[in-house]
Amino acid sequence: MSIDYSQKIPNNVNLSNDRTLQRALEHWQPHFLDWWREMGPHDFASADVYLRTATGVDAQGWASYGAVKMPDYRWGIFLADAIPDRRIGFGDSYGEPVWQQVPGEFRSQFRRLIVTQGDTEPASVEQQHLLGHTCPSLYDLRNLFQVNVEEGRHLWAMVYLLHAHFGRDGREEAEELLARHSGDADKPRILGTFNEPISDWLSFYCFTYFTDRDGKFQLKSLAESSFDPLARTCRFMLTEEAHHMFVGETGIGRVVRRTLQVMKELGTDDQQALRGQGVVDLPLLQRYLNFWFSSSLDLFGSEVSSNAASSFANGIKGRPDETTQYQDHICTDATYELETPDGKGGLQKESVSLRNAMNEVLRVAYVRDCEIGLKRWNMQIQKAGHEFRLKLPSTRFRRSIGAWANVPTDPEGRIVAREEYERRLPEWLPTPADRTYVTSLMQRVTEPGKMAGWVAPPDRGINNLGLDYEYVRLS
Ligand SMILES: [Fe+2]
Ligand SMILES: [Fe+2]
Repeated sequence: MSIDYSQKIPNNVNLSNDRTLQRALEHWQPHFLDWWREMGPHDFASADVYLRTATGVDAQGWASYGAVKMPDYRWGIFLADAIPDRRIGFGDSYGEPVWQQVPGEFRSQFRRLIVTQGDTEPASVEQQHLLGHTCPSLYDLRNLFQVNVEEGRHLWAMVYLLHAHFGRDGREEAEELLARHSGDADKPRILGTFNEPISDWLSFYCFTYFTDRDGKFQLKSLAESSFDPLARTCRFMLTEEAHHMFVGETGIGRVVRRTLQVMKELGTDDQQALRGQGVVDLPLLQRYLNFWFSSSLDLFGSEVSSNAASSFANGIKGRPDETTQYQDHICTDATYELETPDGKGGLQKESVSLRNAMNEVLRVAYVRDCEIGLKRWNMQIQKAGHEFRLKLPSTRFRRSIGAWANVPTDPEGRIVAREEYERRLPEWLPTPADRTYVTSLMQRVTEPGKMAGWVAPPDRGINNLGLDYEYVRLS
């Protein structure tokens, strides 16, 4: 179904056929725009940004590119095409037809999941509110804004589901999604990572690499859902999400490349020397990776979770690539082995029902996906002739949720004394001095084709345009 852009709210769900729903969403729309003006990118409302906009939901029709002022971006409701005769792919109702409406008994579970996913979308826009001021290039500035408008659209995706399928409760939740704010003392966002400030571009690259990737895995498992409108919504969101992770992976890759250049020029990896030249030394980058990776791991929830089990049993949330990656889609008899702390400084092996371990299954798949970028970055470092390797810390390191919450371990996952943990944290996580240094690098560069000194140019521009294209025209 093609997207109707003649409507106030662009959509491919025949919104004009349901007057009540259309009116309700048109009522929410100005609230969203107020939120965008207040909490979205600060100070760039009149800039012309070279943005892509969805024109269709299939692979070809995806994007049209052109200069858009962000407040005029056409946020809308886009679902991937329905799969004819789609069947439930996992859990107790395996093989039955998928649902077009939410079954009453699962209503609150679905609502909670949709609200939690929806909450992350505007949160990240809020976290990045001021970043535009310190952009390393117009190319990066454009990418930031592309990510921001699409996170805004992801909020629309979840709000549509709330309005269309959850009645008055859903409408109230939609208002609340605009009322909570990232880092707010009274009304913070629901999940911890989405309350962390993103005030520098190194954090932004890490966030898009690690935290948007959490988004990818949550969306992949919701794309398996038996509630078909949710599955279709998430399938289309995934096509947008891919660009966000591209920004993260190439962003970190460009930081590495630039640092390696300067290491070669200076013939040293000495931290002071490199910082004197204004680049990100690799151990500093490693500390940023440690921070954002460990924070993002918590988003998957506890290793053992009865909530996860019932989500799976009830067909609400599957595993990523449920159909293609697994043979057993019911998982009533299967078990999962876990290693957890025994509370006495040692480890214990635990065997739990696979359904109860679904959060961990998802987390393991996520970690594997995270490794891909590390391999690429390390390839660059190796080619440049250095021994140093970037690593993902152990999934036990610095956890706040689950079996390893507040268990002091080193990045290799070895349990250490609390005192040692505290003492060595500055080796493992960005120190105040690191952050001050990174902040000092964040000088705005807005001349077309120019890059800040701490990051290499990308391999290519957007949509086959040159690197010196004016991706954002500032007025
Ligand atoms: Fe998103
Ligand atoms: Fe994203």
